[in-house]
Amino acid sequence: MLKVNLLSDEEIRELDDKYCSWGDTTHYSKNPKVFRDCSGSFMFDSKDIPYLDLQMWYASCNFGYKNKRILNAVIDQLNKLPQVAPKYLYDYKVLLAEKIARANEKRFQEKGRVHFNVGGAQATEDAIKVARNYTKSQGIFAFMGGYHGRTMGATCVTSSYRYREKYGHFGDRAHFVPFPYCFRCHYGKKCEDCDFYCVKQFAKNFESEYNSFYDPKTGECEYKTFIAEAVLGTGGYINPPEGYFKALKKVLDDFGIMLIIDEVQMGMFRTGKLWAIENYDITPDVITFAKSITNGMNPLSGLWAQEKFISPNVFTPGSAHSTYASNPIGTRAGYEVMQIIEEENFEEIIPQKSARFLSGLKYLKNKYPQFIGDVGGIGLALRIELTQPDKISPNRELCDAIQEEGLKGDLIYNGKKCGLILNNGGFYKNILTLVPSLYITDAEIDMSIELLNQLFARFI
Ligand SMILES: Cc1ncc(COP(=O)(O)O)c(C=O)c1O
Repeated sequence: MLKVNLLSDEEIRELDDKYCSWGDTTHYSKNPKVFRDCSGSFMFDSKDIPYLDLQMWYASCNFGYKNKRILNAVIDQLNKLPQVAPKYLYDYKVLLAEKIARANEKRFQEKGRVHFNVGGAQATEDAIKVARNYTKSQGIFAFMGGYHGRTMGATCVTSSYRYREKYGHFGDRAHFVPFPYCFRCHYGKKCEDCDFYCVKQFAKNFESEYNSFYDPKTGECEYKTFIAEAVLGTGGYINPPEGYFKALKKVLDDFGIMLIIDEVQMGMFRTGKLWAIENYDITPDVITFAKSITNGMNPLSGLWAQEKFISPNVFTPGSAHSTYASNPIGTRAGYEVMQIIEEENFEEIIPQKSARFLSGLKYLKNKYPQFIGDVGGIGLALRIELTQPDKISPNRELCDAIQEEGLKGDLIYNGKKCGLILNNGGFYKNILTLVPSLYITDAEIDMSIELLNQLFARFI
C-alpha cells in the first residue's frame, strides 16, 4: 500500500523548530529522527527503512509495537465506552484492579488495593501521598541514581541535581543513599568481599540521635519511607547483587520504615518477573507501575498498596485524583496486558532470551576491550558500559556517537539497509541500556549483536 505522508521530514522539523517547546527531551539529539510506522521490534522511517528497536519507547512497549491483541482491545473499547468520568464505575477499571491485586496476593501473600493515575511521575506522587498519609511524616530516603519522574514531588525523590537546579530549593528533597552499583562502588569496595558494606553504612544512620535520623531513646524515626527501584532504569540498568535487598529490608523493618518499590520501568516482566523486586525475595509495602501496563497504548499508571496503607478509612475518597485516572482506554489495554501475562510463559522464556543476548554482549566485550568496560543486567534489561581504554573511565562521547550512528539507517543486514535504535543512561550517561521487546526472536537477538558489532567497528 502506498503511504502518503502528511508532512515531509523537513516540514516536521521546521514546525517543531518554530512552535514546539524544546523543554522536553526531543532536542537531546541535534537532529531528531522522524519515524512513520512501527511493528513488533521495529520502527520505520520515511524511506521505509526498518530500525531494530532496543529501547521500545523507554520500556513502555514490552509486548511489541502494534501488538494485535492490545490494539484490538483498545479499538473495541473505543467503539463501546471510550469516555467515562472517574466518578462513575465501569467494568475494566475494577477488572484490572482485581487482576493486579490478585497477582500480588499470589506473589506476596498480602491483600491490597489499586489506585490509578495517568503517568509514572503521578504514580510516584500518589505513592508519596499514601506514605505521608500513613506515616504522618515527610522524610523519604531514595537511591542515588534512582529516577521517579519530573513533576515537582517526583523530582524531590530523584537524585540527579540537573532536574532541580533551575527551579530553586526543594524543601522536601529526599536523603539520597548510594545504590549497590558494584562496578563503580560508592565506597570503593569489591563486591566479592564487601559483606554489604553499603547496607552497614545505611544502618549507621540509626545508631545515635546525632546522626540526625533517629532517636534511640524514643524509637522515633524522622524518615519513615524509602522509595526505590529494584533495578536502576534511567540510572543505567544496574541490578543489585543477590542478598542486597534482603539486608536493606531488615534495616527498614528494624526502624519501621515503609518501602515503596517503583516498577514503572522494570515492571511488567522486563526482568523476567512481573515485578523486578520479586527477583530479590522481599515484600514491598507499595508498588508503582505505568509504561508497559498498557504497552504504551494510552497513559495509565497506578499503585498497589498493602491493605493497611490504603484501606478506605485510611486513604479516604478524594485523597488523590486526576480527570484521566482510570480512563477506560488505558484500563482496557491494561487488562489485555495482564491477560497476556497470565497466558504466556515469560518466566521461562525471558531467562533464555536473556542468556542468548548476554552471551552476544560478552562476545562484543571481548572483541572491543578498548570500548567496553562491563556488560550485564537481568532479564531483558541489559547494559553495555562504555569506557576509555583504562576500562573504567566513562566514555560518554562514544555512547552519544553510537546512538546517532545507529539512527542513520545505513547498516546492512542480510543484504538490506537497516538501523538500530539505542538509548543511554547511567550516572555518566555512558551506558547503552538495552530494552528489547519481550517477544524479540532469537534471529532478532543475533541481528542486535551483529548491528552493535557493525557500529563498534566504525569507531575503531
Ligand atoms: C522508574 C521510573 N519511575 C518513574 C518514571 C516517570 O514516568 P513518566 O515518564 O511516565 O512520568 C520513569 C520514567 O522513565 C521511570 O523509569
